[in-house]
Amino acid sequence: MNIQSNNNAASGNADNTTSTKPNPFADNMQKVTSIHHWNDHLFSFRLTRPQSMRFRSGEFAMIGLMGDNGKPILRAYSIASPFWDEELEFFSIKVQNGPLTSRLQHIKVGDEVILKPKATGTLVNDALIPGKRLYLLATGTGIAPFASLIRDPETYEKFEEVIVTHTCRHISDLSYGKDVVERTMNDPLIGEEAVQKLKYYPTTTQEPSEHEGRITNLINSGKLFKDLNLPALSPETDRIMICGSMPFNIDVKKICLENGFEEGSNSRPASFVLEKAFVGE
Ligand SMILES: Cc1cc2nc3c(=O)[nH]c(=O)nc-3n(C[C@H](O)[C@H](O)[C@H](O)COP(=O)(O)OP(=O)(O)OC[C@H]3O[C@@H](n4cnc5c(N)ncnc54)[C@H](O)[C@@H]3O)c2cc1C
Ligand SMILES: NC(=O)c1ccc[n+]([C@@H]2O[C@H](COP(=O)([O-])OP(=O)(O)OC[C@H]3O[C@@H](n4cnc5c(N)ncnc54)[C@H](OP(=O)(O)O)[C@@H]3O)[C@@H](O)[C@H]2O)c1
Repeated sequence: MNIQSNNNAASGNADNTTSTKPNPFADNMQKVTSIHHWNDHLFSFRLTRPQSMRFRSGEFAMIGLMGDNGKPILRAYSIASPFWDEELEFFSIKVQNGPLTSRLQHIKVGDEVILKPKATGTLVNDALIPGKRLYLLATGTGIAPFASLIRDPETYEKFEEVIVTHTCRHISDLSYGKDVVERTMNDPLIGEEAVQKLKYYPTTTQEPSEHEGRITNLINSGKLFKDLNLPALSPETDRIMICGSMPFNIDVKKICLENGFEEGSNSRPASFVLEKAFVGE
């Protein structure tokens, strides 16, 4: 999807070469360097990274495409790559009638995507007080910020154990997260620490697999802790990050509050933080 040709189409320019309309996002265009389709509703892709762009692992930025009307379609996206990566990685849903993803799912290597380089967010190590164990609890594309954090050496410096749970409907929905965990374990920079400290616990709710059910139920029943040989949640030792659908975030937040955890933010770090993986049901 070439942005320049979209601009030309919007301005009624037929030959695609002589547009006089300046692209207001010319300074924010990044090139697609790779794409992987995990199933018919999930894909990941990588973009070139502006040299000046700084972000903390776990943050999100605005990305998008130029619409046919010449206006940009921008959406929040968690940056799935760690702060040190030379490129930027994203993990995306394909919403059939979604203004952005109905088109974004068709990008090809070499196409340009708008990236606003200002990143922000609460799923960052800085928003948590020190602890022994870090729980990263995700559903669906909520795994994206955690794909960044588990590839950041600071996460392993700050915590003795890092537990990533990913709940999806089907096994194929777990593929991206599984791939990132495997690559992390084999990474020359952090692989050794990840093998020792990282525990990955994928669960499915609508297809049989090794671990079945919503993570909320597996926490409440104690099965998660039994399976991983860990003690029950404690605000003394544990820190929690939550990223999923709104009902998921609400349910996990309830579990956190009932167990004595306190919600943190960038300005006031505490024992748990959360962020919506998307807006809507
Ligand atoms: C802080 C933040 C970070 C985000 N990070 C990501 C990310 O890393 N990857 C990603 O794919 N999306 C992410 N989103 C959602 C993203 O902003 C868009 O909503 C998504 O790309 C769909 O855009 P759209 O224009 O096609 O459809 P929209 O009009 O934006 O959404 C249409 C409907 O599709 C559903 N939907 C949208 N996004 C998702 C999703 N991710 N998972 C399941 N259902 C969804 C919702 O029901 C929504 O109402 C994030 C949202 C927020 C607020
Ligand atoms: N993923 C798909 O196969 C698929 C296909 C077509 C359309 N969609 C649409 O895409 C949107 C998002 O789908 P999604 O699968 O990414 O996200 P989702 O519907 O939020 O479900 C993701 C996972 O989170 C679990 N979950 C949901 N609410 C929870 C809660 N309160 N506590 C604990 N776990 C919870 C779900 O379990 P349960 O299964 O028990 O709900 C599921 O395993 C929806 O509008 C959906 O209709 C998805």
